[in-house]
Amino acid sequence: MRTQVAIIGAGPSGLLLGALLSKAGIDNVIVEQRSADYVLGRIRAGVLEQVAVDLLDEVGVGRRMHAEGLPHDGFDLCFDDQRHRIALHELTGKRVMVYGQTEVTRDLMDARAASGRPTIYEAADVSVHDFDGKSPRVRCVLDGTAHEIECDLIAGCDGFHGVCRASVPKDRITLHEKVYPFGWLGLLADVPPVSHELIYVNHERGFALCSQRSKTRSRYYVQCSLDDQVESWSDDAFWAELKRRLPAATAAQLITGPSLEKSIAPLRSFVAEPMRFGRLFLAGDAGHIVPPTGAKGLNLAATDVGYLSQSIIEFYRGSERGLDSYSDRCLRRIWRAERFSWWMTSLMHKFPETGSFGQKMQWAELDYLVHSDAAKTALAENYVGLPL
Ligand code: APR
Ligand code: PHB
Repeated sequence: MRTQVAIIGAGPSGLLLGALLSKAGIDNVIVEQRSADYVLGRIRAGVLEQVAVDLLDEVGVGRRMHAEGLPHDGFDLCFDDQRHRIALHELTGKRVMVYGQTEVTRDLMDARAASGRPTIYEAADVSVHDFDGKSPRVRCVLDGTAHEIECDLIAGCDGFHGVCRASVPKDRITLHEKVYPFGWLGLLADVPPVSHELIYVNHERGFALCSQRSKTRSRYYVQCSLDDQVESWSDDAFWAELKRRLPAATAAQLITGPSLEKSIAPLRSFVAEPMRFGRLFLAGDAGHIVPPTGAKGLNLAATDVGYLSQSIIEFYRGSERGLDSYSDRCLRRIWRAERFSWWMTSLMHKFPETGSFGQKMQWAELDYLVHSDAAKTALAENYVGLPL
């Protein structure tokens, strides 16, 4: 089989890149190791910056997002049992769209299926070869039979645990990583959200977040220990812990119900540099991870593939300049989002090892933040997304 661009991974990065390339008339094949249902079963964040909304519109998959997604003009920061609104729209003129990553992925998958472009699901033993030359190859096994895809370029959209980054010789890549000493226990339930906007909570028992997927579906999180087992958290225990971390008036309004899903996610900051190795390009979680506190993961994935698609289109018009600058262009945006996600994580979580001084510093910063228009604007402009 031959194609122009082989895309490894059918998460949001791979699917959006496929859609952008297809729109430009560039042949592409997506190779995914899991089934479509497995990919759709993963529950991830759901806050889209305007750039991500624009890219989804550009490839014609925005209809359901605009109908069912919820534009948010602000969110609450909560500490010392008080909620303080960060008026995103007033401070920046921009808003965010609350629409789950699962739905984004479903919309992209449906559009891809309708376009007839090839997506190979359940590919085993995926490997990438010869990306230093002009004829890279992807190998995989389908139903026990080995296949090879010849291509011009490979896009590594295969997430943090993927094969693409792992195939780069160690002396050509630098990894920067910070692992946080806690996780997020998340619960999804068909109950109306406790507030029409998100609430990020700093509490002495640990961080909590009240988020949502729709007016009837809520997503809540509590900071938990990395040693916790999700099986040992009953729904009742989760709701009780969440209520303890909310102001009494908010806790009193919380509507609880049976969980549809419950899981624990570790928190990590990670960047691989560079993002280009000959004709192999990393995009999305394959190249970087942010802790979810700033809701930047999906947005960074979208901007990476936006840049990558532009560079590939230029490549087929005869210029490699876009491909040459791809890595630097992405990394500048990535590091700024890494900084913001790390800062917001540091501000909002309980870090027992920093002691009472660390806790006082958090409260002083939160107090400053909610009483300074300059500080609130800095938070808001990062949250809605810095200009490209
Ligand atoms: N071969 C083929 N596919 C693979 C391989 C492999 N060896 N390894 C992983 N994959 C697939 C995974 O099964 C997954 O479907 O690559 C896909 C990567 O998808 P994501 O992990 O969702 O990564 P990405 O598309 O970059 O999306 C980033 O996901 O984690 C969130 O916060 C993050 O919202 C951001 C988004
Ligand atoms: C979510 O809805 O899952 C969510 C929202 C905001 C975040 C993280 C996760 O910062």
